Amino acid sequence: MIELQLKPAIYSYDTVREFVEDVQIGEHDLIVTNEYIYDPHFQGLDLPCHVLFQEKYGAGEPSDEMAEAIYRDMPKDVTRIIGIGGGTILDLCKLFCLKQVSPVLDLFDGNIEPVKGKELILVPTTCGTGSEVTNVSVMALISRHTKKGIADEALYADKAVLIPSLLQTLPMKVFATSSIDALVHAVESALSPDGTASFRTFSYEAIERILKGYLQIRDHGPEARLPLMKDFLMASNWAGIAFSVPGCAAVHAMSYPLGASYHVPHGESNYAMFTGVMNCYMSIKSDGEIAKLNRFIADILGCEPAHVYTELEKLLNVILPKKALHEYGVKEEELPVFAKSVMENQGRLMKHNFVPLDYDKVLGIYQSLY
Ligand SMILES: [Fe+2]
Repeated sequence: MIELQLKPAIYSYDTVREFVEDVQIGEHDLIVTNEYIYDPHFQGLDLPCHVLFQEKYGAGEPSDEMAEAIYRDMPKDVTRIIGIGGGTILDLCKLFCLKQVSPVLDLFDGNIEPVKGKELILVPTTCGTGSEVTNVSVMALISRHTKKGIADEALYADKAVLIPSLLQTLPMKVFATSSIDALVHAVESALSPDGTASFRTFSYEAIERILKGYLQIRDHGPEARLPLMKDFLMASNWAGIAFSVPGCAAVHAMSYPLGASYHVPHGESNYAMFTGVMNCYMSIKSDGEIAKLNRFIADILGCEPAHVYTELEKLLNVILPKKALHEYGVKEEELPVFAKSVMENQGRLMKHNFVPLDYDKVLGIYQSLY
């Protein structure tokens, strides 16, 4: 059992210029990013490298079709990929550093073995995915109407780079969905049967920093997040380390059909499932790590452990109002389809559940959230 694994090396810089000078960006580098990130932060630095803007290949979360389209345009002389952006860009770049990328669907079906062919640097510009320190890439598989992740050693970045100043322009909604995603990573990894005391140190530290930040925002308004962006970026990175081996679980697994079918942002679809899954766990097993976790969160919120999910939801609703599944347009007859899809496609995540959940439990959670 792996007690703790720290990959890749993590760097932090106060400014973009320090980063660019340290890694010596050259003509065989490819930056994959968004224009709204590149223009204000990198344009004036006159970099000699190739640059591709992800949004030219489609909006929203990453898909196999988007990956194919960007890959077709990738210059052939590139030896290093630098992904600068949210989870979409980081997850795409993990594929682009492989020797064989296309057909992407074959990669996700396990018909192509992932082999690293290029150096990879990942720079997150949101405070959620932790993708810069994990070996997972998640794509919507358009023809299959769901999302799927692949996890492989070859997908680890060589360097993860934290530059908090890149997050100063993050809109409140993106901040909300991404930081809630990080919170869910921290909670799911703390409860994972593959978790260890060492990985949980990162989970609990991330939970504390995120919730204390949320309390500041609740008490002083959305602008109170701005001086805290370094805290949130660190917390998201720690949550990424926390789940890098112990894994995420049912919250993520159950959010994928909603996210893929109704284009709900990843963190928001996680939040839609979060307390439903936690309540289900508690109904099956209320002692052990979940009791410790509930007490830990209750202490931060200043409430009794018995009320922890209600109080947590009150706080999270200030950051991002929770919606019932029917408010996203989900039809009741789709719930069994969602549950079936989770059981068939999300085994990678469902094996990390705090307690095993079968089809009936999964359907029951969806119904309780409808
Ligand atoms: Fe996530």
